[in-house]
Amino acid sequence: MNASFEQIEKVIRGRRTIKAASMNGKKIEQGTVKQLLALADFAPTHARTEPWRFVVYTGESLTQFCKDHANLYWDNTAEETRKEATKENLEHMGDMASHLVIAIMRRTPEAKIPKLEEYAATSAAIQNVLLGAEALDIASFWSTGGMVLKPAMKQYLKLQEEDEVLGFLYLGYSDQPKKDAVRNIPLEEKITWA
Ligand SMILES: Cc1cc2nc3c(=O)[nH]c(=O)nc-3n(C[C@H](O)[C@H](O)[C@H](O)COP(=O)(O)O)c2cc1C
Repeated sequence: MNASFEQIEKVIRGRRTIKAASMNGKKIEQGTVKQLLALADFAPTHARTEPWRFVVYTGESLTQFCKDHANLYWDNTAEETRKEATKENLEHMGDMASHLVIAIMRRTPEAKIPKLEEYAATSAAIQNVLLGAEALDIASFWSTGGMVLKPAMKQYLKLQEEDEVLGFLYLGYSDQPKKDAVRNIPLEEKITWA
């Protein structure tokens, strides 16, 4: 087998979601995070719109952002359904992470490609970040929980109407053993050799 295929296969197969609470608080160097985001920038992009945008939080800005996330949840959830425990969980979501990268799709309407293609390009950019992280033994967690996909979050981030948040990427280090990959649908069922 070609050596570079073996390496990339190892990284792709080895990447596992490691939740923010399972991270250990150790900080990633800012330059390393920049290297990961530089990988994102090489994702495929139809019409060269390069729709991926990132907002990076760490240290105090991360602590403050998590508080704001918790407050957004509280202020935008009906009194009958909102739960103190959920608010608390969101407020402390980043406690053990090193960085939070908010991945945003910035729409380019004048490019005349469907929005779907810009979601796709941004997702590819996100995967580049996750794979780069895996190669550096950095734990990652792509989350859409809490207020991530809610209009209130778009407003908080001052996004334009057509832009979308695709996820929160928590990055850090973890001491916990990685779980085995679980795939419920056999690969054969996902492929049609026409
Ligand atoms: C778009 C997207 C959103 C996700 N949001 C969440 C989430 O909110 N909470 C969560 O626990 N996992 C989330 N995940 C991670 C999945 O749970 C995880 O990828 C899945 O369990 C497969 O595990 P693996 O990443 O280790 O292969 C998300 C994944 C994707 C692609």
